[in-house]
Order: sequence, then structure tokens, then C-alpha cells
Amino acid sequence: MRDAQPNTKYLKDYTAPAYWIDHTELTVELFDDYTDVTAQLRIRRNDELDAAGSLTLDGQELELLSVALDGNTLSAEQYQVGDESLTLSGLGDQHLLTIRNRIYPQNNTALEGLYRSGGMYCTQCEAEGFRRISYYLDRPDVMSEFTTHIIAADGQWPVMLSNGNKIADSVMEDGRRRVSWHDPFPKPCYLFALVAGDLRVLEDTFTTMSGREVALQIFVEPQNIDKTEYAMDALKRSMRWDEEVYGREYDLDVFMIVAVDDFNMGAMENKGLNIFNSSCVLANPATATDSTYLRIEAIVAHEYFHNWSGNRVTCRDWFQLSLKEGFTVFRDAGFSADMNSATVKRVEDVQMLRTVQFAEDGGPMAHPVQPDSFIEISNFYTVTIYEKGAEVVGMLHRLLGEEGFRKGSDLYFDRHDGQAVTIHEFVAAMEDANGIDLSQFKLWYKQAGTPVVEAASSYDADAQTLTLTLRQHTPDTPGQTDKQPLWIPLALGLLDAAGNDMPVQVEPAEAWTASSQVLHLREAEQTFVFHNVSERPELSLLRHFSAPVKLEYQQSPEQLLFLLQHDTDGFNRWDAGQKLMLHWIEQARSGSFSLSDAEQTALVSLLQDDQLDKSMLSYLLNLPSESYVAEFSAPVDPAAIHHARETVRLAIANTLLPHLAERYQQLQSPVAYQPEPQQMAQRALKNLVLSYWALVSSDGVTAAQAQFEQADNMTDQMAALLSLVNYGSDEQADAALASFYQQWQHDTLVVNQWLSVQAGSSRRATVASIEQLLQHEAFDWRNPNKVRSVLGVFANQALVSFHQSDASGYALLADAIIKLNGINPQMASRLLTPLTRWKRLIPELSALMRAQLERIQSQEDLSKDVYEVVSKSLS
Ligand code: PHE
Ligand code: ZN
Repeated sequence: MRDAQPNTKYLKDYTAPAYWIDHTELTVELFDDYTDVTAQLRIRRNDELDAAGSLTLDGQELELLSVALDGNTLSAEQYQVGDESLTLSGLGDQHLLTIRNRIYPQNNTALEGLYRSGGMYCTQCEAEGFRRISYYLDRPDVMSEFTTHIIAADGQWPVMLSNGNKIADSVMEDGRRRVSWHDPFPKPCYLFALVAGDLRVLEDTFTTMSGREVALQIFVEPQNIDKTEYAMDALKRSMRWDEEVYGREYDLDVFMIVAVDDFNMGAMENKGLNIFNSSCVLANPATATDSTYLRIEAIVAHEYFHNWSGNRVTCRDWFQLSLKEGFTVFRDAGFSADMNSATVKRVEDVQMLRTVQFAEDGGPMAHPVQPDSFIEISNFYTVTIYEKGAEVVGMLHRLLGEEGFRKGSDLYFDRHDGQAVTIHEFVAAMEDANGIDLSQFKLWYKQAGTPVVEAASSYDADAQTLTLTLRQHTPDTPGQTDKQPLWIPLALGLLDAAGNDMPVQVEPAEAWTASSQVLHLREAEQTFVFHNVSERPELSLLRHFSAPVKLEYQQSPEQLLFLLQHDTDGFNRWDAGQKLMLHWIEQARSGSFSLSDAEQTALVSLLQDDQLDKSMLSYLLNLPSESYVAEFSAPVDPAAIHHARETVRLAIANTLLPHLAERYQQLQSPVAYQPEPQQMAQRALKNLVLSYWALVSSDGVTAAQAQFEQADNMTDQMAALLSLVNYGSDEQADAALASFYQQWQHDTLVVNQWLSVQAGSSRRATVASIEQLLQHEAFDWRNPNKVRSVLGVFANQALVSFHQSDASGYALLADAIIKLNGINPQMASRLLTPLTRWKRLIPELSALMRAQLERIQSQEDLSKDVYEVVSKSLS
């Protein structure tokens, strides 16, 4: 155990910095074994503060070489070097501070700061990585204009990049090359970036709405140049969309994206120089699946949109992280919804929210969208900050309407351009632009936990009224009790017996769409009365998932089936289907499950439907995942969930069997692969059909084998591989895996998918097989994508295999976390997530999991990242 407990930081302790850094001139000299950094900082006293002329800079793992003030080198007595700081005192109003230090990028396995990935140098500074490059005020409210010089042996790194525009490129007298960049927009250092490598580039241009031409460049390692086209296309569409929907124009002459293999997260929005995990940017039809294409489209857009929501207007402190992340996720979701099916996008987002975010909100790491404390900020890049944050912005959009929301966002960008602000300013702009009081609404940012809304309705045939009573409460979360009622927008509709929307008249409420209304639930309990309701209606509540709540409303399987067939809200059709399937799984657990005739007929007609979007159909016909089911059961018994779900799957597949071969044939496409929505939808449905077919019929397995051999795109090849691995004979599964590896061993991203197929298969993944994968030549502890593909997938998806009754699955994960704690603390901490759920498991498993957490806690030298999650989980 560590002797000194890491400090907790509190939002309430925020104070402005003692100095500003108006200009930062950084010279980075790359040598083979080390890198020297010279920072010339023009500092100015913050006269709003009664500062004592003392300045403490952040620094981590830096070898200090020299400090000079206004050109005079200081002696070591004139400053104090702490473990993670450099302090100067007796300072005046303004100085030029020059600091030289040495770093060792090749030894940097944490992937924060400047590091080597494959054959290149790259940086990752958010949240607090810049302090591993140079001593600095590493906090987002210090915004500085950056000039960067990169120096290296001439010819060694043909491409040397930093933020902004390139201003000089020359060979110096000593024969080394020096490339200089200038970024005119003041920015916090977390948006700094630097790249050097032997890279290829795809180039294009974009003309902005005011007619400026912007150069677009995507840099990759040479072998990947044929995988850049789609990202470029997505980038141009994002730029256009942000102009059209938000009125936001790009502001520099060049916009660059760089792909790197070793990256802790998905991508990073550094000003003018986005750095991407290669898995989130590289694609061609042969190597990337449709879902990879969709992910690339969303992430390219997300990072691009940050140029305004994040960079031009940034965060005052890290407690405001959702200010940029929640808003930007909301923006990228709008973009994806416009590019593809809006309903499907909503379904995917809600699936993720319910399985991952609700679990977080109900566990030991629960925190508000605006947290009030943390130990390690890296632990707060969470689904709550991102996805719940986006839901909160989505509710604002729902409350204000399209136009009102746009007025608010315009005001926000105008008012705060060039500033570092808080969530309060964002909401205030929405209030001021719309003349609305959002004080109660702001509780969404302050209160953790998923609110529960209970609904009860009664119909009075004589009075022709429907009475709906809604009650809300938000459960206690660590450090928070006695929560206040939230402002919950609840969209709903009433369906008549034929499945048509009935005109709804209710007070108080407002029209949302022609057929739906939004009720504003603002008290702990409220009753709404609908008038002129001519027949007993079926209620469709929480349409489009209008608020991130758990809705409790009693509906029979017959009512759910009716909604699945008739609801005019696409999201609620899906949701009714999922509830029905959860009910089936529940029945299967108690041994009393069979599909009624009506249910069987409905399934078959969905399979054969040719009106609905095929992607939607594939969601309607797919069972909720095991982790989704787990979220709806307490205590969680993973093996029981798995077996019950398999029972239901088998029943569905057998019901559909007479029609599967024909439907599969119909869904084949003679057209060449394109990553476009209609084709993707058709493939999604075809491959779902294939998986049901292969589950119950050897003809299906034969079809999978043929598809595996003939596929000209990864979507079909991967789907066939999954079917063979999960439903083929052992020999077929082994052979398919071997041939796939043989074919793709030189493509690291495809190999990651190959690892995931094995690690996530309940049938194949055993503790022994995971250990083998960890020994495989394709595995690398230092590469986060590999770690996620094996360990992340195993612990989050192969539930029966992970939750072994002898604790071997838990022990394997704990060993990996202990190992990674020393290599890459952020990765180690992220892998802990499944272990934080121990309290929800059945007692036998719960105790075993807790024991593994305690074992981790007892290790020496725990990183802050791991320490925080483990100690909160055990308290
Ligand atoms: N800010 C990045 C994004 O959401 C995520 C990120 C955080 C990347 C921290 C790296 C490190 O777009
Ligand atoms: Zn982001």
C-alpha cells in the first residue's frame, strides 16, 4: 500500500493563476536517445490577484537543465525544484522566463507527453501531459499563443508538424533542419501537439462558407496511405455540416490529421493538428467493417467540432470537462444522425448509455456531469462526462427547440470566443438567448445517479380522460444523498387500437411533433390529465428517449408486442421489443419460457418486412446483450443470464428458420462494396440472419463458410468468421481463425479484430485461451489497442468466461492491471471498470471479485489512476 495518499482536488478550491503566459516559444530538439526542450515564456502577473510574485509551474519526469529570467541564468538557489514542480519567487509584473529541460520519449510508455509510436514521435497533452514536456502552468485557463520550432538531423524526419501554420523550414548552419510553426489562436497547453516521422499524406482542400480555401491533410505511416480516403470524406462533410447547422467556420489555413498506432484514447482535438488512434481513422473495404466506418465518421466529426466547442471556447478547469465533451458528443451525434438513420443512431447511443453509463452511475465511481472532486483527472474521461453530458445538452435542445438552441449556441460562441469558461456560462447563454430560467435544469449537472421515473395511468371511459401520474427520485450515490427533483422532459404519444397516434390534449404540456407531446416533470410527483380520449389508449412513454432516466411502467407482453408492431416512434418500437425480450429472458431463467403464436408471427413478419430501414430491422430482431440484461437484473448472475439468453436466441432462430435461407439470399448484393448507409443496413440485416441461421442449421454454417471464403469486404468476412467461430465445429472454427490470421497478420488493426473475436466469444474464451493470446506474437502490452482487444473485450463481453466460479478470470484481469500499472496507468485504470461492479454480483462471485481488488490495493507503487478507482470501489 502507498504511504502517502494522493490528494483529492476540489472544484470549490478553484483559484485563478498567479501569472498568465501570453506567449510560448517552444524549441524541441530531437536526438536519438533524448529530446531537449527550451521553453521561452512571456509571463505577466495576474493583476486580479494580489499575487506575491511567486509562480509554481508543473513538471513531471523532466530533467531540468537551466532556468533564466529575462536572459540571466539563475543559480540553483534562486528556484525550488519539487517532485512535480518548479517554483520561482520574488517575481515582478512581466518577465521572459526561459527553461531548458531534457526528456526521454523512447522510454515513455504512459503515452502522455512526447512519446514514440512505431516509427514516429507524437504527443498527447490532454489532460495533464504537457507537464511531461516542459515546466508550465498546465491548466486549461492559461491560454497562450504558441510558436514551435522542431529541430532534427536533416533527412531523419521528413514530416515535422505542430499547431497552426508553418512559418519556416530551413537547414541550419550545423546541418540540422528546423521547422517552425505558429498558432495565432491562444490556447491552453493541453491542445499543443507535435509530430515527427516519415509519413505519407493524403491532401485535399475545403472552401469555407466565406470562401477561404483550407488545405486538408491526413498523415499516416507509408503502409496505410490506401486507408485515408474515407476519413477525408468524413472531414469535408463535417466541415460543411458545422457551417450549415451551427454556423461555425474553420479558422486556420490548414487542418491536419495524423494516425498513430499507440494511443490511449480514440483521438485528440489539438488545434489544427488532430491526432488519432489509427483504429479510429484508417479504413478500406477489405480491412474495415461497417461499424468501423461509422466510428471513423463520428470521431472525425467529433474532433473537428471541438475546434469551436473546446478550442475557441475552452474549459476553465477540468471539472468543466463536459462543457466541451458533452456538447461535442451531442454535436457529433446530430451529424451522424443526419448522415445515417437518426433512429438507429439513437438506439445505439441509448444501448450504450443503459449498459455502460447507467452502470457507472449506479456504482462506486458515480459522479455528476460536473464533478466536484477527483484524484486523477484521467479517470474522469467517462461515459458520464461524455454520454450523459450529451444527453443533458440534448434535453436543453428539446426544451428550447431547434431555433432556440441555435440562438443559445450562437450567443455562447460569440460571448466566450477566446475564453476558458464553465458549464454555468454555457447554460447562461442558453437562458439569455431564450429568456428562460434554467436554474432547476442545472441540477442535471450537479446530481449524480440515474433518476427513476415511475408512471401509472388510468383511463376513465365515461369522462374520456386518461390520468397519468409520474413520480421521480434519484438514488443516493457516493457522497450525495437527498436529491432534488429534476426537470425531466418526457415525450409521449397515445396510440389507438389500430396503432395510430391519437390527438393528445393535455395540460400543462407543449407540442413536440405533430403526434407527440412533451410533459415537463418538475416535481417529485405530478399528475397529468388528457382530455377527449375517445378509447382506451396504449401509452408510448419516453419517446426518442427524451431524458436519461429509468422508466418504470407496467406493461404486459401483449402491450409490448403491440408497441413493437405499431409505435410510430421508431425508438420506442425498438425499446418495446427490448422490454419484451427481457421479459422472455426472465421467463427462460425461471424455466417457463415459450414464444406465443402472436410473438412468433410478429418475429417472422419483422424478418420479412420490406418497409422499414434494414438497419432498424436488424436492431429490432437482435436480443439485448448480456451486459444490457445484467443492468436490468439484481443481483447479477452472469452464467444464468447467459444461459437464459441463449435459450431465447435458440427459440427465435428456430421460429425464423423456415425463412432464413430465403431472406439471406434476398439480402445478397451484386453491387460493389460501398460504406454508405443503405448498403450498410442491408449487410447488417443479412449478417444477423446469417448468425441466426448458423446457430440452428448446418446449412447456415455452410453459408457462413462460403461467405468467409468469398467475401470481398471485411464486414462480410468478419460476420462469417464470427458465425464460424461461435457455431461451426471446433475444426471449422480453428481453421477459419488460422486462415484469417494467415491472411491478415501484417495488418495490425485487422489482427486486433481477430484477437477480439476470440477474447469475446463465450464459446472460445477460456482463461487458458486468453493467456495464450497474451503470449501470442501479435500481442503487445505497450499497445493500448491490443490490450483492449484481448483484456477489455474478455472482461466486458465474454461474461461467462470472465466470471468463473474459481475466480481465475478475475485473477487474470487483476494480474494484467498490476502489470500495466507500471507501464501505462491510464490503461490499467480503465481495465478496472468490470471489477468496480462487484457489489452487484451474486454473493459467491462478489466476494471473489472483492478479493482481487484488495490484492491490487495491496501492491506497492500504485499509480494515482489505479489507486483512485480501487480505493473508491472498496470503500
Ligand atoms: N479530448 C479527446 C476527445 O474527446 C479525448 C482524449 C482525452 C484524448 C484525453 C486523449 C486524452 O476528443
Ligand atoms: Zn471530445
